[in-house]
Amino acid sequence: MDDKHLVAVIDFGSQYTQLIVRRVRELGYMAKLYALEDLDQIHEPGAVILSGGPKSTTDADAPDIDFEWLKSLNVPVLGVCYGMQLLNIKHGGSVKASNKREYGPAALLPEACTGLYRDMSPSSQVWMSHSDTVDHLAEGCQVIARNAEGVPVSLQWGEATFGIQFHPEVTHSHEGRTILRNFLSCAANLKKFDIGDFKRQLIREIRERVGSKQVVCGVSGGVDSTVLAVLLHEAGVNMRAIFVDNGLLRKNEADEVRANFARMNVEIETVDASERFLTALAGEGDPEKKRRIIGGLFIDVFWDAVGDAEMLAQGTLYPDVIESASNAKSKASVIKTHHNRVERVLELQAQGKVLEPLAELFKDEVRELGASMGIPHDILWRHPFPGPGLAVRCPGVVTRDRLDIIRECDAIFIGNLKKYGWYEKVWQAYAGLIPVKTVGVKGDERSYEWATNLRAIVSEDAMTADWVELPPALLRETSNRILNEVKGINRVLYDISTKPPASIEWE
Ligand code: XMP
Repeated sequence: MDDKHLVAVIDFGSQYTQLIVRRVRELGYMAKLYALEDLDQIHEPGAVILSGGPKSTTDADAPDIDFEWLKSLNVPVLGVCYGMQLLNIKHGGSVKASNKREYGPAALLPEACTGLYRDMSPSSQVWMSHSDTVDHLAEGCQVIARNAEGVPVSLQWGEATFGIQFHPEVTHSHEGRTILRNFLSCAANLKKFDIGDFKRQLIREIRERVGSKQVVCGVSGGVDSTVLAVLLHEAGVNMRAIFVDNGLLRKNEADEVRANFARMNVEIETVDASERFLTALAGEGDPEKKRRIIGGLFIDVFWDAVGDAEMLAQGTLYPDVIESASNAKSKASVIKTHHNRVERVLELQAQGKVLEPLAELFKDEVRELGASMGIPHDILWRHPFPGPGLAVRCPGVVTRDRLDIIRECDAIFIGNLKKYGWYEKVWQAYAGLIPVKTVGVKGDERSYEWATNLRAIVSEDAMTADWVELPPALLRETSNRILNEVKGINRVLYDISTKPPASIEWE
């Protein structure tokens, strides 16, 4: 995509920066986040947004920007919070530091419902999170909105440079989307992002980079790796897609994954490593050790199957890229504790032989890309499933019997969610095992059997989650069927824990 259609979001460190990118994408434009050290990667963008940040512009080590460079771009600029204070200083104004932080809702009163505030209410709730306020305004600076106390909270310099004290990107700013849309409409060069154009560009790039080499990728049946494999297939490169059955999959899942790829005419190789995984996990009850065993063995099995790869493709998405950029230091130390096979990936990476074609996309855009290549709806809307599979839904030791019980309970629950039209309304759902024997009655006898926990949550990004108020009829039918059909279970519980403090998985 041409840079002139790009909205460059410059990161001053606010916790909401990623959300600005998200919101601009939701409005249909391409946006990318840039660290202050990476400004040389920005070439003639269509618009620039300066994010908020935790520092005060009056701090000695306050992050700064080359104003001459910014002006030379000659495009609309929006400064959010810290970004606005910085613009004010750069234009010759001043900022007053305060050690009290204003955090929470406030009223926004535009001077006129035009320009940045076109189509807005005369008074609108916005979300504040700042301590500095503007003090002196330079000549030519116009106040375009105030708060209920009359304090300037939005400024304009010239035709299309704006500052806003609040955060339009959070949903608590009720008309934040309108403000961003109005800002972007000032950028004459911006063109809406088109997934079809993007796909054609990706395919060109893949062909160029891969040439006649062989590229391998791992597939799990999940959305990202499926879209990746289909994209490589559509690019027509020499590809091997490898699917590792770790024995921790859901009922019939390995067959379904194979059938799904067959539906899409993409050939995959399956490595059945169930025995190896179950043997390696035998007797291990510690959650962290279980995860390490599964992660380490996966790398071994995958690379044994690959042999010597010329190139590797990974389904990394944009949030992972942003995340790893901001955690660069901690990430480096985590990698060291891993595995020597990881060294191989790092080596390929250093040689420019790791392809990450989805690395500029958010999840919903990956789905859109998948749909544009004809990937069936049910595959694109599968619930997320953790890499360590059912092991994290089976607290304590993992055995084949325990996994089978989980598989049966889960299949009944998921089947009912689909039957009642709830599968796509929830972000993720599953049945897990609580391996604690509780008393029940079966026939005339007292029985001591395990419990299953049903979990169904809604979430936007898995960072937070809420449990779902499923219809009682669905829960009742699920419970009745599990109690009647699944041997070893005499109790069904519905998990009503939010994240935080609970996590989505049980381990
Ligand atoms: P938690 O349990 O941390 O899960 O609230 C958040 C999301 O991540 C998935 N999850 C994992 N995915 N490897 C993965 O690939 C893991 O070890 C792992 N643990 C949790 C979980 O299913 C949920 O979608």
